[in-house]
This record gives sequence, structure tokens and C-alpha cells, in this order.
Amino acid sequence: MSVHTDVKRISVPQLMAYKGQKKIVSLTAYNAPIARLLDEHLDMILVGDSTAMVGYALPNTLTITAEQMAFHAAAVVRCTQRACVIVDMPFGSYQESLEQAFRNCAMAMATSGCDGIKMEGGAALAPTTRFLVERGIPVLAHVGLMPQYVNTMGGFKAQGMTQESADRILNDALAHEQAGAFGVVLEGVAEGLARHITEKLSIPTIGIGGSPDCDGQVLVTEDILGLSGARIPKFAKQFADVGALINQAVGQYAGDVRSGAFPTLDNCFGVKK
Ligand code: KIV
Repeated sequence: MSVHTDVKRISVPQLMAYKGQKKIVSLTAYNAPIARLLDEHLDMILVGDSTAMVGYALPNTLTITAEQMAFHAAAVVRCTQRACVIVDMPFGSYQESLEQAFRNCAMAMATSGCDGIKMEGGAALAPTTRFLVERGIPVLAHVGLMPQYVNTMGGFKAQGMTQESADRILNDALAHEQAGAFGVVLEGVAEGLARHITEKLSIPTIGIGGSPDCDGQVLVTEDILGLSGARIPKFAKQFADVGALINQAVGQYAGDVRSGAFPTLDNCFGVKK
């Protein structure tokens, strides 16, 4: 027996068809409560490896594993119906060989039911994109500022500021397009370069510190909600102070428990009226 649901998830080919028509709106989600709230508003949810820093308070994204990412993605898929869910492949899970990349991406997709994967890397990773796409795994490439390359880049620094660097990033994006990627994330690159790449590519570009002219935008949800606990990056914008709301609610709860105002008998079981 087949099961019918009214809401259809946005597919990767549908996202590709947005190019030149409408903006792709995307945010990160790593867990059920946030994903549930985002779903109706977004075209794409990215289960980013930024959860290493945002969710696990690690100094960079390098230590999260493919299994952890798959578990986060599974939670996000389970409680969403509409947005296309893409999972980030973490450092060390796809760079070793084509076979290793396929094995880990297939594991992440099978474990979570997500719609595709994202991986960081320049033109050198384009053969991996081709290998995955030819075997049924949609790939979102990620070029420019690549947090998994923090040690070779010497920090989280904006890219594409020199002609040489800009040429390399354009070449990276073109190589992934030719290899079959369905889109390219442009992170932390010079605005003019992001605009130029968006014009050159026939697949969508998703900016994060890119350009207003990118085909879509993605940000870390905790940054826009005031939940990052730190200064947010220049490319982000805080749209609400949910941290302040939580602070207020938790403060009230603590006060009520200490004063005896909570719980009341209404919150208890087996109380005779
Ligand atoms: O890990 C992440 O959150 C990302 C960004 C593009 C938002 O890769």
C-alpha cells in the first residue's frame, strides 16, 4: 500500500529550475525543533557541518563525523515535509577516494532520507562530483571560503580578493557545474566575483557572504535568531533575539521553582479534587 501526503517536498530539479525565476531561500537546521519551524518558509534546509561549532561548541568543523551528520539529517528529514534537505559531508569523509566518497554519501542518504549532499572543494573535487552524480547522488558544491580548509587557508578569511584567487574560484565553480553539480554555494567571496559566477553558471549559486545577485541565500539559523552566543559574521543579519526570550523564560521558571510557585497541584498526578 502506498502512503499519500498532501505536501510534496521540493526536489533538486525543482530547485535548479528556480534559476532566473525566483530566489532559493535556505537556512541551516541540525535538529527537530528548529527544522519543524523552518520548513514552511524555506526551499532548502542545509544540515551544515557548522553544527560542530554552533551545536557542539568546537573551534572548527573538522572533527564531526559522517555518522553524526547522518543522524542530524535524519532528525531534520523526519520532521519536515516541504523543504529540500541537503546534508553536508564532513571533513575526511569524501576526499580520500571516489569509492570512499560514494560509500559515505550513500550512507548519509540512506540513514537520513535526505535529498542530496554538499561538499567543499575546488576543481580537484570535480571528479568526485561527477562520480557521485552519475551514481544518483545530487551534489551541491561549496567553493570560496571553505571552513574545512581553515588550516590551509590560515583562518576563516574572505576569498577572491586578488585576480588569481578570483580566477581560481570561478574555475572551481565551472568545474563542478561541468561535473554535474546541481548548484554551488559561494561563501565569503568578493561580491563582484559572486555576481560574475552567478551570471556565468547555468546552475543556481547560493550565497553566504556572496552577493545579493546570487540565485539564493543561506545563513546559519542560530545567527539570525540571536542564538549563536557570539558576534555574528559580517555576512549575517540578526532578525530576532530568541536568546533574550529564552533567558527571560528560563529566569521565570527558575524563580517559580525556587519560590514554590511551580509546580502547582494542577501539574501533578493522582491529586484528589
Ligand atoms: O555548514 C554550514 O552551515 C555551511 C554554510 C554554507 C551555511 O556550509
